[in-house]
Amino acid sequence: MCGIVGILGTQPVAGNLVDALKRLEYRGYDSAGVSTVENGVLGRCRARGKLRNLQSRLEEMPLKGHAGIGHTRWATHGAPTETNAHPHMTDKVAVVHNGIIENFKSLRERLEKAGAHFETETDTEVIVHLISQALEAGAAPETAVQSALKELEGAFAIAIIFGGHDDLMIGARRGSPLAIGYGDREMYLGSDAIALAPFTDRVCYLEDGDCVTLTRTSVAIKDENGHPVDRKISQSQASAMLVDKGNHRHFMAKEIHEQPEVISHTLAHYVDLSRNRVEIPDFNIDFATLPRITISACGTAYYAGLVAKYWFERYARLPVEIDVASEMRYREAPMQPGGLALFISQSGETADTLATLRYCREQKQHIASVVNVRESTIARESDAILPTLAGPEIGVASTKAFTCQLTVLACLAIRAGCERGHISSDQEMELVGQLLEIPRHISRILHDEKLFEKIAHDLAHSRDVLYLGRGSSYPIALEGALKLKEISYIHAEGYAAGELKHGPIALIDEDVPVVVVAPRDELFDKTVSNMEEVAARGGQILLITDDGEAADSFSTASNFILPKAHSFTNPLLFAVPVQLLAYHTAVFMGTDVDQPRNLAKSVTVE
Ligand code: AGP
Repeated sequence: MCGIVGILGTQPVAGNLVDALKRLEYRGYDSAGVSTVENGVLGRCRARGKLRNLQSRLEEMPLKGHAGIGHTRWATHGAPTETNAHPHMTDKVAVVHNGIIENFKSLRERLEKAGAHFETETDTEVIVHLISQALEAGAAPETAVQSALKELEGAFAIAIIFGGHDDLMIGARRGSPLAIGYGDREMYLGSDAIALAPFTDRVCYLEDGDCVTLTRTSVAIKDENGHPVDRKISQSQASAMLVDKGNHRHFMAKEIHEQPEVISHTLAHYVDLSRNRVEIPDFNIDFATLPRITISACGTAYYAGLVAKYWFERYARLPVEIDVASEMRYREAPMQPGGLALFISQSGETADTLATLRYCREQKQHIASVVNVRESTIARESDAILPTLAGPEIGVASTKAFTCQLTVLACLAIRAGCERGHISSDQEMELVGQLLEIPRHISRILHDEKLFEKIAHDLAHSRDVLYLGRGSSYPIALEGALKLKEISYIHAEGYAAGELKHGPIALIDEDVPVVVVAPRDELFDKTVSNMEEVAARGGQILLITDDGEAADSFSTASNFILPKAHSFTNPLLFAVPVQLLAYHTAVFMGTDVDQPRNLAKSVTVE
């Protein structure tokens, strides 16, 4: 989604604003802009496309102000043009916004009737005119902003500077994240701590409804009722170093290769390595008496939840309901009070997931969240936080966060099984031991990465690709299809292999590759039958399995033999080949692997 940054500095800020926006590029964008105020006069510079275009513009037309705001825009309302790029402004106020103003059409009509002249197609511009009209009516800046916020419906994080005020910046949030950065005689605003890391590690995340008025030496936060509040200042974990690609061509490649390391870090957080026991820090849910778990998430995080459903039901005999958050938030599902609602989110800011969390809170559920950003909104609204220690994930396509989510969920399922009397002490040690093997197994798969490059070239010429899996491999088939489609733009579908005969087999011919995710487990023979049905119709099969003999016994176009692991841990292992297939296909096709078209890293609007 959009990225926001603001600086009340002690020197010209335009360059620092752009540097901070670079740290938000991972969120996805299609235009960018900055605005500064110098001797009370507002200036602005914007450009379509990447930040380098904005930098070129600034070289031609430098902005000298020591206070300013910046924005990377991911177009929601209005085409990705320079005119629609933020900041939006009048001579009185400049605004940058992340979110969606749902009632902007009615507001725009009313404002135009009152004489406002709109320049853009965006929803954001109504904020500019609401504030400007209040200022013209004599309101002080903070009052003007408060009156504007009362009119807005929808989600926003905004940063505002004012004509005539060189030492004033106001920020507000409702549904989209916004953080204050505390500097030395400087103050900052940003969408997240990563943007602020070059300036400060003292960060305070605003709560929904908060509005903050900043000068270089003062911070005044008010809650949605206008009451002064204090919010906790924390030490940000975000590194001051620009997250870089190391010796990899893309962030996605780097993050795929980081998986052995970050899975190890995550395991160390949840496993007593001296006893091979699972220990979940700061988690007081009594699984023994828990009636059910409700899991909700979006995209790849949802597929991690689907895998966890198999684990909780098989190893803990615990009923699980799971749904994508965009459906769950509106379903009005009846929920027995006292259940556990578990949310999975890399960013911790996904609007649909957050909205579902709030619904489950109203339904008196215990709230736990598996998140990669501890300071995120979803984390802060949870009773229990289960962090993934994946480190910043920059590639829009989630990889290391996914396998770290699986790692956390596997530990949780073991804990649940132990507390509910379905996993003995010996079994716990064995399953934990299997988890501890995963980093080594993944390293071996990565060592054979070249195998995936060749196959990717074949996939790259496909129009449609089918992914099949059974049991806990079915969510991995879904994930593989998502990875391929979101970075290579090839249409791909994941299906439960047993569903093939109920329709999808009509798709099969020699032009539709079928990727089969099939460890040699109790369902393998059933899946072989499906593969035979595909082969009989000329379908090309790419088999991902852990049994070389099985693979040889079946004439496949290609197969990848993975290290033999335990059926419990196979989903973590089989996630890696489908990531590599998608990555190398996209590289071959020349798409923007780290920032695929139309996508954003964190979907903070619904
Ligand atoms: C994953 O590759 C996708 N980029 C997307 O589906 C993502 O998983 C989804 O938007 C959820 O994001 P979250 O984990 O930050 O909540």
